Amino acid sequence: MARKQRTPRWLEAARRRGPGVPEGARADWLTRALGRAGVLPRAQAEQAIGEGRVEVDGRVEKDPFAPVGARTRVRVDGVEHALTARVWALMFHKPAGPVVHGSDPEGVGTVFERLRAVLPPELQGFEWYAVGRLDRDTTGLLLFSNDEQLVRHATAPETHLPKRYVARVEGAPTEETLGRLRMGLTLEDGPTRLAGAALREPDVVVLTLTEGRHHQVKRMLEAVGHPVLTLHREAVGEVVLDVAEGAFRTLTDEEVTEGLGFRPEADPA
Ligand code: URA
Repeated sequence: MARKQRTPRWLEAARRRGPGVPEGARADWLTRALGRAGVLPRAQAEQAIGEGRVEVDGRVEKDPFAPVGARTRVRVDGVEHALTARVWALMFHKPAGPVVHGSDPEGVGTVFERLRAVLPPELQGFEWYAVGRLDRDTTGLLLFSNDEQLVRHATAPETHLPKRYVARVEGAPTEETLGRLRMGLTLEDGPTRLAGAALREPDVVVLTLTEGRHHQVKRMLEAVGHPVLTLHREAVGEVVLDVAEGAFRTLTDEEVTEGLGFRPEADPA
């Protein structure tokens, strides 16, 4: 049976309001803009709005989806904040265990909680979006950003951003097997793209993919008869993991533009 699509809350709110969204590339809604600008992460922003602590252009605003633009004047608890924000990107060294999901029904912990636990106060006000997913047992480089455009750019298959994985596998893959991985395999969800494949040790495969399908590395290695024992991601684009497990650092502008190939849209003046 076809699953019924739920209308997103922001869209319901926009339909209720009708026209009147401020112009500009960065026209946004209130909670999301507060999270992107580092004023309050979205859950805290929703709470503050519900408590009547947020003013938009001089009036208390009770709608978390109220449209705002870069020039909208916003006050939280009487303090004015700019909604213009630079694009931030962070690298986080994911340990095995936490899930890359907002919800955590099994109570195993999320990467968002792990990241927040090590962030300094000046980065706590942002809403951090994970750039793609890693399985619960996968370790390594997970990027985060306050900017959804960066997330879309880095995760879109059309961007062809290479992701480098290191997999310890059962058995010892031969050169012929590596050739099959490189040329592409047919999985249940279709053929895989050309990939990089090399051995680092007899049972350690370095696989570089330019797409990010669900469990793709594990499924590709399973398909050639070498199930994955452990999986680690060490690079995304030209950004190479260089922090200890559980730690983070911010990326430089050059890492964002050159390493990830992302050029943010300018905020309207
Ligand atoms: N491929 C996988 O199988 N798992 C990951 O976590 C990432 C890529």
